[in-house]
This record gives sequence, structure tokens and C-alpha cells, in this order.
Amino acid sequence: MINIAIDGPTGSGKGALADGLAEKFNFIHLDTGAIFRGFAYGILNSGYSDPTKEEIEKILPSLNLKVKFEEGKQKIILNNDDITKWLRAEQISKLSSKISVYPIIREKFLEIVQEFASCNNCIIDGRDITSVVLPNADYKLFLMASEEVRAKRRYEENLSKNISCTYEEVLANLKERDYRDSHREIAPLKVVSDATVVDNSELSIKQTVDLCYNLIVEKLKNKGEK
Ligand code: DC
Repeated sequence: MINIAIDGPTGSGKGALADGLAEKFNFIHLDTGAIFRGFAYGILNSGYSDPTKEEIEKILPSLNLKVKFEEGKQKIILNNDDITKWLRAEQISKLSSKISVYPIIREKFLEIVQEFASCNNCIIDGRDITSVVLPNADYKLFLMASEEVRAKRRYEENLSKNISCTYEEVLANLKERDYRDSHREIAPLKVVSDATVVDNSELSIKQTVDLCYNLIVEKLKNKGEK
């Protein structure tokens, strides 16, 4: 199987890049942030908006979370309900980052993603894909952009989805998540030595996809796999 791993901070455009690459390579794109968001949704729906470690440990066994693909679209199924459309709210964004620091959550996550990668040609994006989940991925990318550019993208995405927020809220939220995601003890967001770093602050999605596609094809050619 060919696995392409992409990491980067929130709003760096990992999702759009992974979608674009998945289309060009005809691979599946697995968005791993959605798994944490799914757990956050389940925890919130169990009545905990700011859960402790013990509360998470208590609730987790009752959350049966699965990733499914329907007509190429990723769905998060929680206890047989499709919860995908509820996962982008700011409250879920915040809580997913908070709960992602706990080992019990990360173990479940690791199981789901490694199992998926072992039987699919795929592009997987997240925070620790290049470092922990797929340390032997065929290609590793670290995608970044300035804080302001990322906050503006997230703000516009929210508006287009009728999610009410201000730019300042989104920027503050983003800074808080960046800090937590890169300073946590387990599997923090970081650039590994064999990843290619791409800053797309000044690039369109198409330019980013084309640039990364060419880099990957070149490397796979050299490996004799493409
Ligand atoms: O990519 P995203 O914004 O949908 O991710 C939501 C949160 O999930 C993010 O703040 C941190 C966590 N996450 C993680 O810890 N590891 C991953 N591989 C993906 C996401």
C-alpha cells in the first residue's frame, strides 16, 4: 500500500491539499481530525463540556466510533448515527484539541488509523501522522501558513457554513489550539527530519496541490513505485 502523510497546524490547508492529492492519485483521503472531533461530540453529548481524564475514561467505552466512506466521502459514525455534519462547530474544534492530549483517546485513534492505512492506498492528514502514526510513510509533508492567513481561511469557511463567529474569536482559538497541539506530551505537532516543509501562505490550493503532487511523484519514481 502507498501511504502519504501530511501534518500541519489548524487552517494550514491540509484537508484541501489531501483532497486534491487523493483525486490526482486516485487514493482515499482520511481526515484524522474528524476522529477526535467525533469523540469530542460523543463526550459533549454525554453532558461533559470540560471533561476530566477520569470522566473521559468512563465515557469512552460507550463510544463506538467508526470511519466509513460513502461515494468517496468520509463519514464519522458514532453508535450507528452519522454525526459528520455536526463536527465543524467551534465548540467541537476546541474540545477535540483538549481531549486529544489523553493517552486513552490517542490509543483508540492510533488503532483506527493504522488499520485503515494498512489496507488502503491513502493520503492521511493530521498532527502526528508523519511522526507517530505512519513513521514509514512513502512521503511526508508538513504544511504551514502564517497565523493570520490560517485564521482568515477558517473564518471564511465558518461563514460559508453559517457558523457564527468573529475573526478575532477564530484567531484566538487558533493560537490556543496551536499551542496545545504542539506542546502536549504525547504525539505533539512537530516537523520530523524527513518531512518536506511547504509554506502555502502565498499559494492557492491548486498551486499547493500541483507543487506537492510533483514532489511526491518524483520521489515515488525514484523509489520505483510509480
Ligand atoms: O485537523 P482538525 O482541526 O480537524 O483536528 C481537530 C483536533 O484534533 C486538533 O486540534 C488536534 C487533534 N488532532 C490530533 O491530535 N492528532 C491528529 N492526527 C489530528 C487531529
